[in-house]
Amino acid sequence: MNPIRSFAETDYPATIGLWNRLNPDRSRSLEDTRHTDASLEGKVRKGRWVAEVDGEIVGVGEYSQNLGSLHPQKFILEGYVAPEFQGQGIGKALYDQVLEALQGYNPISLRTTVRENSSRALRFLQERGYAETKRDWVSVLQVAEAHLEPFVGLEERLKAQGLEIRSLAELLQTDPQAISKLHALFSEIRLDTPRSEPPTPISLETFVENVVSGPDYDPKAFFIALENIEWVGMSCMFRVGQAKELDHWFTGTRRPWRGRGIAQALKVRTVRFARENGFATIRTDNDSRNAAMLAINDRLGFRRGAAQISLLKELVHGAVL
Ligand SMILES: CC(C)(COP(=O)(O)OP(=O)(O)OC[C@H]1O[C@@H](n2cnc3c(N)ncnc32)[C@H](O)[C@@H]1OP(=O)(O)O)[C@@H](O)C(=O)NCCC(=O)NCCS
Repeated sequence: MNPIRSFAETDYPATIGLWNRLNPDRSRSLEDTRHTDASLEGKVRKGRWVAEVDGEIVGVGEYSQNLGSLHPQKFILEGYVAPEFQGQGIGKALYDQVLEALQGYNPISLRTTVRENSSRALRFLQERGYAETKRDWVSVLQVAEAHLEPFVGLEERLKAQGLEIRSLAELLQTDPQAISKLHALFSEIRLDTPRSEPPTPISLETFVENVVSGPDYDPKAFFIALENIEWVGMSCMFRVGQAKELDHWFTGTRRPWRGRGIAQALKVRTVRFARENGFATIRTDNDSRNAAMLAINDRLGFRRGAAQISLLKELVHGAVL
């Protein structure tokens, strides 16, 4: 019997449970995943299937698109199979299902990621014509062991230059334009982030629905650097459900303000927030080409785990997959 069927609303707990079992350092929260899926509805093309054996979900396969680099014929694939069910053709069946569903869109490229220690998944993809394009370091900071001493006085030195750091929660209290200012700041800085595909604009409406909302969003964990009334830098984290963990989303400084220690000071502030609020770990992932960001994180004591490899398969327009 074919174990593959379409994903159903009731599959969320089992699929998130499987993902978290396989990716403990990139765990997802149930409610936030539901929120993310709902907020992508109508904005990206998306399809998901599960493999079910004896009533148990043992694998997931899906296609979606990158909201920040949208192209109607470019897709992102994700697939995973419970270790005890690997080697039985389930991954292949899920993959074939995903590709079949994509045919109608005439895809020109497929991207996916795999951890460097998943040799079976890597081989699976290489055999199907995927080639590595970049690596990201997935890193974790044990908050209690963070190296904050070298940065004592950094925020005060910036203050003496007219720069201050405030949380988004504080700014929201007095500035009705805070969210649109954050959107403008993010939209400018994200253009300089190393990435796989050219960035496409993210509207304010999409930003509100997909970033500054949802159960894991907490404006107290978003920090902004200001020079007088000008917003010049940001470092923002999300909660991960009820876990004692924070997930770094985005850090950046506007070009004219770079090299002054602003990003470093913002990240120090995020670690202090974690300490003061009882979080045990902060996780992040960084493009291996982003020397500045990696240096900032290394200094704070982030430890790198298995890298995440990005792979690409380019398809000749109209080619049979
Ligand atoms: C990465 C980025 C946030 C750094 O911001 P910044 O405010 O200029 O960083 P800082 O001034 O705090 O730099 C702190 C340290 O980073 C390191 N650093 C900065 N630029 C560097 C570079 N080009 N190469 C290597 N290390 C660098 C240095 O160690 C520096 O400390 P030092 O000046 O005392 O030696 C900024 O370049 C940026 O916004 N880039 C685009 C967005 C992005 O890629 N964000 C990360 C993805 S979430």
